[in-house]
Amino acid sequence: MKITYYGHASLGIQVNDVHILVDPFISANPKASHINIETLKADYILLTHAHQDHILDVEAIAKRTNAIIISNFEIVSHFENMGIEGHPMNHGGSWDFEFGTLKYVVAIHTSSFPDGKYGGQPGGFVIEGEHKNIYIAGDTALTFDMKLIPMHTKLDLAILPIGDNFTMGTEDAIIASDFVKCDKVLGYHFDTFGYIEIDHEEAKRKFFEKNKDLMLLEIGESLEL
Ligand code: NI
Ligand code: MN
Repeated sequence: MKITYYGHASLGIQVNDVHILVDPFISANPKASHINIETLKADYILLTHAHQDHILDVEAIAKRTNAIIISNFEIVSHFENMGIEGHPMNHGGSWDFEFGTLKYVVAIHTSSFPDGKYGGQPGGFVIEGEHKNIYIAGDTALTFDMKLIPMHTKLDLAILPIGDNFTMGTEDAIIASDFVKCDKVLGYHFDTFGYIEIDHEEAKRKFFEKNKDLMLLEIGESLEL
C-alpha cells in the first residue's frame, strides 16, 4: 500500500493497481500548487464529509476519471445528481471493494455542503487492504468510539488530524493513537490556513516522548506500508 499526501486532508492511496483519492482539496490550496489535479489517478474517491476543504476538486476529478464516490448517503446522492457514480454507506457498515474491505466509522464533527445543504453525518474510514490496514480519521474530535476500531482491525497506520481548532490537536491525537492501538501516525489537516498552523518539531517530539512515531509528509511525498 502506497500513501501520498496531497496537502490538507487530501490523500492518494494505491493498493496494487487500484487508485483511491481521499478528500481532494488541492486546486485552491496554495501550499499544493505543484500538484496538478488533471494528472491524478482515481478509481475511487472517498469523502469523509461535505465541507469545502474536503470536496472542492471532486467534481473535476470524478468527471475526468469516472471514479466512484464512496461516502455517506447524502454526499453520494449529491454527486449522483451531477451524474457521478457513487457507493453510499453509513456508519458501522462495511463493504468489500476490489482494494479491500472498507468500513465507514464515526467522527465527531459537522458536515454541511458549501451552500449550507445538509451533508449527512461526518465519518472516517478503516481500510483493510491485502496486507495492511489503515484508519483515516477524517475531521474529528477525540472520541471513545475510536476504541471500537482495534476490536475489529489491527492497524498498521492511523491517519489523524493534528491541526487543532477544527479537529483534534496533537495531544488528543496521541490519546487517539492509544485508543486505536496504533503507534504509527501520519498527521494531516494542519498548516493549510492560520487556524491550524502547528510547530512540526514540537508535535513530533510530543509523540516521540510517548514512544510513538508521528510522520509529517511533504505535499506530494509518499510512504510505503
Ligand atoms: Ni470539516
Ligand atoms: Mn476540514
